[in-house]
Amino acid sequence: LSFFHSIFISFYFSVKSLAMNPLLIPEAYIIGAQPLCSQLVGLSQGQKKLCQLYQDHMQYIGEGAKTGIRECQYQFRHRRWNCSTVDNSSVFGRVMQIGSRETAFTYAISAAGVVNAVSRACREGELSSCGCSRAARPKDLPRDWLWGGCGDNLNYGYRFSKEFVDAREREKSYPKGSYESARLMMNIHNNEAGRRTVSDLANVSCKCHGVSGSCSLKTCWLQLADFRKVGDALKEKYDSAASMKLNTRGKLVQMHSKFNAPTSHDLVYIESSPDYCLKNQSTGSLGTVGRLCNKTSEGMDGCELMCCGRGYDQYKAQIVERCHCKFHWCCYVKCKRCTKIVDQFVCK
Ligand SMILES: *[C@@H]1O[C@H](CO)[C@@H](O)[C@H](O)[C@H]1NC(C)=O
Ligand SMILES: *[C@@H]1O[C@H](CO)[C@@H](O)[C@H](O)[C@H]1NC(C)=O
Ligand SMILES: *[C@@H]1O[C@H](CO)[C@@H](O)[C@H](O)[C@H]1NC(C)=O
Ligand SMILES: *[C@@H]1O[C@H](CO)[C@@H](O)[C@H](O)[C@H]1NC(C)=O
Ligand SMILES: *[C@@H]1O[C@H](CO)[C@@H](O)[C@H](O)[C@H]1NC(C)=O
Repeated sequence: LSFFHSIFISFYFSVKSLAMNPLLIPEAYIIGAQPLCSQLVGLSQGQKKLCQLYQDHMQYIGEGAKTGIRECQYQFRHRRWNCSTVDNSSVFGRVMQIGSRETAFTYAISAAGVVNAVSRACREGELSSCGCSRAARPKDLPRDWLWGGCGDNLNYGYRFSKEFVDAREREKSYPKGSYESARLMMNIHNNEAGRRTVSDLANVSCKCHGVSGSCSLKTCWLQLADFRKVGDALKEKYDSAASMKLNTRGKLVQMHSKFNAPTSHDLVYIESSPDYCLKNQSTGSLGTVGRLCNKTSEGMDGCELMCCGRGYDQYKAQIVERCHCKFHWCCYVKCKRCTKIVDQFVCK
């Protein structure tokens, strides 16, 4: 996704005036606006239009989606499916043909990444159409604490991301009751779950003022959670995701009605997952041939499960580590680099 960055910089020009008064934009600007948006791979028609109107947002959308995918790869680093897909040319254009839990997670975490990045960019003054959060003062904030530090603009981030990320689904239409319509509802549901997870975890953050740090005065603002927390929360939702099917009225309903119905904060899927043992274009599985595994672990990262019973090869590998670290006053740590030889196990 680095293309977002490089293309963005080479075609960047101020679009402040464009946002304010579209009628006054010279023709040349509109033509000038084409390259960025038409060169971004995988944008739908609606997304291209939003791209042209909000060019300054594109870099953050790209970075946000990338953050989401990086977090996905971290959360699934010890699993057969490790969040690398056969086609990763574009996050929003990715071909994930099977409506599995893993697909659900991918949509949710990319959407979450986008809300996160756009909300933060507003706060940092990077976007012409938004600024600090204007969220109302929480009722339970102690009366003598000030509300009004510059907060992450979750409200704007949420609305813009919903518009942009869901656009590609919303502009399609499929016959009621079709598989495609079920996938569309699934994707939109999981995008929303991702966004809500970011918003559920955002919290008040405060800073002390007052004479020599006495903290007699506090200023507080709305602050996004660390994105790792969003990843952890979505991973839990992945584990408890709801299996859905279409009912006769063309709506998604829970397969097993004995469980509580999923809310807009939960993940949903419509197809069971493949085992991800072998490469398969149509499921988005890369297979586990060549993956590192842990000989002594009995978990998913153990060689038995990771290699799907195919066995493994053992190698001696040289790794470089930080070692003999020393604390220096004040305040940094200096380390040496040591090399050591370790056994590595790689799936056949
Ligand atoms: C997927 O993306 C990664 C990093 O962005 C890249 O190294 C890899 O080659 C890509 N894989 C495919 C199959 O395109
Ligand atoms: C928000 O912060 C308060 C005070 O630090 C804490 O008690 C509360 O659990 C936090 N809420 C969430 C959703 O993290
Ligand atoms: C790939 O997965 C699909 C769906 O599970 C299956 O029908 C197909 O046979 C698989 N193809 C290969 C080459 O394994
Ligand atoms: C995920 O697995 C594939 C092959 O199964 C491997 O090529 C890739 O490097 C892995 N990605 C990460 C981020 O570990
Ligand atoms: C392998 O798994 C064992 C048991 O879970 C764990 O103690 C060990 O740290 C793991 N080794 C590596 C290299 O991750």
